[in-house]
Amino acid sequence: MCGIVGYIGGQNAAPILLEGLTRLEYRGYDSAGIAVLGPKDTTQVHRVVGRVRNLTAALPKRLTGKVGIGHTRWATHGPASEDNAHPHTSEDGRISVVHNGIIDNADALRAQLADAGVKLTSETDTEVLAHLIARSGADTLEDAVVEAVSRITGTYAIAVTDSAHPDRLVIARNGSPLIIGVGEREMFVASDLAALVRHTSQVAHLDDGEFATVFATGYRTFTVDESDTTKPTTEIDIAAEDLDLGGFPHYMAKEIQEQPESIERIIRGRLDHRFGVARLDGLNLTPRELRGFSRVKILGCGSAYYVGQIGATMIEELARIPADAEAASEFRYRNPIIEADTLYIAVSQSGETIDTAFAVEEIKRKGGRVVGLVNVVGSTIARACDGGVYLHAGPEIAVASTKALTNMAVGFALIALSLGRVRDLSNADGQRIIAAIRALPDQIRTILAAEGEIAEHAKVAASANSLFFIGRVRGFPVAREGAQKFKEISYRHAEAYQTSELKHGPLALIDESLPTVAIVPADELADRNLAAMQQIRARGGAVLAVTHEDVDFGELDVPRIVVPRTEPELDPILLTIPLQLLAYHAALTLGYDIDKPRNLAKSVTVE
Ligand code: AGP
Repeated sequence: MCGIVGYIGGQNAAPILLEGLTRLEYRGYDSAGIAVLGPKDTTQVHRVVGRVRNLTAALPKRLTGKVGIGHTRWATHGPASEDNAHPHTSEDGRISVVHNGIIDNADALRAQLADAGVKLTSETDTEVLAHLIARSGADTLEDAVVEAVSRITGTYAIAVTDSAHPDRLVIARNGSPLIIGVGEREMFVASDLAALVRHTSQVAHLDDGEFATVFATGYRTFTVDESDTTKPTTEIDIAAEDLDLGGFPHYMAKEIQEQPESIERIIRGRLDHRFGVARLDGLNLTPRELRGFSRVKILGCGSAYYVGQIGATMIEELARIPADAEAASEFRYRNPIIEADTLYIAVSQSGETIDTAFAVEEIKRKGGRVVGLVNVVGSTIARACDGGVYLHAGPEIAVASTKALTNMAVGFALIALSLGRVRDLSNADGQRIIAAIRALPDQIRTILAAEGEIAEHAKVAASANSLFFIGRVRGFPVAREGAQKFKEISYRHAEAYQTSELKHGPLALIDESLPTVAIVPADELADRNLAAMQQIRARGGAVLAVTHEDVDFGELDVPRIVVPRTEPELDPILLTIPLQLLAYHAALTLGYDIDKPRNLAKSVTVE
């Protein structure tokens, strides 16, 4: 959730740290700070509440120093304030620490430190680390960090500077991502590739339980018992331009428009029309193994969970094996039964969502087989899984996920084909789905061309304080995702229901002030959906239908957003696209910060 950057080399650190923090701001953005090692063993620490631009404005004109760390925060312990912003420092100012994650035993450690006479200056868990390191008495900074980290429980990625050792940064990771970027006689540290791509294409990902000393000319990685580990560098696969707005007013607008190309990337080389099958070598599953699964369980959080529901329906329809999706955030807390003949699929854009990562661990601990449907290459979840399908959606910056979710849904279609074609899905049906998948990019272009019309509907929707989103079977997760996107960025209450459930309670709320967005595909449930819309209209509720051209609305006169038809199994993919635009334009009308909605972060790396 928080973003960490670090620099050591021949350049002035501050501008590099600030630029990196700006790139990481989407991870968390309620306060920011940097620590730069200055001349004569001093550390210059600057922290502000708010965005990185506030920090930039607050910095002194001359802030020189070639080693530093920076942080953009998403509050967990204590509100957003200057005192709670990172870096945190030891009492003598020698040690500075930035941290991403949560220290579970922070209260106990704070009490112990206070008893020992330490004056704590923040409400954060992180501050304890600065004091523990400074008070360790170990001979080296590395030993002091290892010793301090051994006393904490919880999750962390940390970067530490010591003004007495200005030739190094010491970093450590457990549960929160941390990457080293390798330059020419300079090194970078970051929570995310986004902060590194402008400087280097060579990176090394730290693993959980690993530490590193980073010098200007190289790095050494080691474990808690100080044994060296081997950490080769890999080449980054994203270009710096991919992270720019490219002329769009918001990343969300850009990412919505990128969807046709992003689908083309996920299917490239993976569709075999002749045999009506998808080739997913990364799953690391033989046809015999694929055939051996008698159930599929999908785990994700938030929108990834809703798309998991779309995927479960696709898998049941195409492979005819029981499949369901569950919120990963709840999964491990109910001591789940892990079955050897169940294929577990973890789905995540960032690959760093801690709840999903923990669900993967729980499955593996109990001997289950888990594959990933992940966007960020080399991320925690991607590496923890036994195999997987990369989404190839490209970098997604807006907190409200769009293109990654669409690629998740397409990824599920590919997995459903693989599972189906080793069972009873015929070659002809496989070819039918493949042809439909190939047509999706152009069909999405058609929907995107109607953006102006959808923007008009959004203005109406934005004027309501509360909205319902309804759908049935394939349409229900679409409604859930539509409501999620709407509430996330427009701050309007938006609730999703199964259309069939309306009359069991929620219908009581319907009146002129509560509009409903109804998902009405041209399927076997269209008539029932029409009947529900009539019941809403009869109670004075406005309805906006997201539907297909050939649904006969008869006498029912409600505004409609029409999407092209695909094969019914893939309908949710296209029905979701207008809901992204609806949410985007509602938030635009209301004047909110679309890419960085309040209280949220792109990558949820704390529980
Ligand atoms: C989507 O718009 C949300 N920001 C959120 O629900 C997100 O999908 C969820 O936090 C999961 O993230 P992940 O895909 O990176 O795991």
